[in-house]
Amino acid sequence: MDYVHYSVMRNEVFAYLVPPEQGQAVMVDCTCGEGGHTHMMLSSYPNLSVIGLDRDSVIQQKAIKRMEPFGQRFTPRNIWFDDFFATCAEEQYDLILFDLGISSFHYEESERGFSFRKDEELDMRLDKNAPISAYDVVNGYQEQRLADVIYQFGEERYSRRIASAIVQHRKTAKINSSEELASIIYKSVPPNYRYGHIHPATRTFQAIRIEVNRELDRIEPALRGAVKALKSGGRLAVISFHSLEDRKVKWLFKELADQDEPQIRILTKKPLVPSEQEREENPASRSAKLRVVEKL
Ligand SMILES: C[S@@+](CC[C@H](N)C(=O)[O-])C[C@H]1O[C@@H](n2cnc3c(N)ncnc32)[C@H](O)[C@@H]1O
Repeated sequence: MDYVHYSVMRNEVFAYLVPPEQGQAVMVDCTCGEGGHTHMMLSSYPNLSVIGLDRDSVIQQKAIKRMEPFGQRFTPRNIWFDDFFATCAEEQYDLILFDLGISSFHYEESERGFSFRKDEELDMRLDKNAPISAYDVVNGYQEQRLADVIYQFGEERYSRRIASAIVQHRKTAKINSSEELASIIYKSVPPNYRYGHIHPATRTFQAIRIEVNRELDRIEPALRGAVKALKSGGRLAVISFHSLEDRKVKWLFKELADQDEPQIRILTKKPLVPSEQEREENPASRSAKLRVVEKL
C-alpha cells in the first residue's frame, strides 16, 4: 500500500515524546491518519502501545494495515478526538499527540473535493455520516453566513465578493464540483489577487472544510480533556498549521500553565517550526508549529 502523507516535524516530535523506560507506556495519537508518527513511535519503543484516533474510516484502514506488524500494540478508534476525551478517565496516558487538519491523502486520494486542483464532488466530510457536506454549505448557506464562514475560517479578505459570486452562480445552477467552485472564486477576485503566491481559492476551501468538520470547535475541549487524561509527567504535543488553530492552542496552554494551581508546564516557550531542510523537502510543512507541554 502507498502512503502519501509526509509526517511533519518527526524529529522534533521524537525528541519531546519519550515514553518512560520502565514498564508499559501508552500514547494516544489523536490524528493518526495513515499513521506516520504512530509508526515511528511503535518502531522505536517496544514497550509502547498506541491508541490511534481518526474520524475518517477510509484513512484509518490504511493505518490499520500499516500497523499490522505491531499486533495488539496498535488500537484504532474511529472517533472525533473531542468525543474520545469527553468520556476518558483521568491520568492514564503517557504521551498524547495532535497533528491537526487533514492529510495529503485527503487532497490526493480521497475524491471528496478537498483540492481546488481536482474536479471532484464537493463533499469534504471526514465523517461520511456527518450531517452537512461542502455541497450543502456552498449551495445552501445564505450569503451573509457563507461570507462569515469564508472570512472567519479562511481569513479571506475577499470573502464578501466570493460569497456573492457563489450565490449569483447558484441562482442558475447548483455548484457540484471542486473545479466549478474554484473557477467561480477565481473569477470573482481582483486580477492581481489571481496571481499571488497562493491560488485564490486556497483560503475559501480551507474555510469550507473547517466548517463542514467543525474543526476549530473541537480543539479546546479536546485539549482540556487531553491534559486531564495525561499522567503526571506525561507530555502533550500539538502541531498546528494556521494561526486560527495555533492561537487556540497557545491561549489554552497559557491558561492551564498560569492558574494558581497550574496543571501543566510549557516546554516550548516559543513554538518550534520545521527545519530549513524539512521545509525544502516538504513545502506543505512551512506553516507548521509545534507546542509541547508536560503535565504537573
Ligand atoms: C495531518 S493528518 C495526520 C497525519 C499523521 N500524523 C501522520 O503522520 O501520518 C490529520 C488526521 O486527523 C484526522 N482528524 C482531523 N481532525 C480530527 C478530529 N477532530 N478527530 C479525529 N480525527 C481527526 C484527519 O482525518 C487526518 O487523517
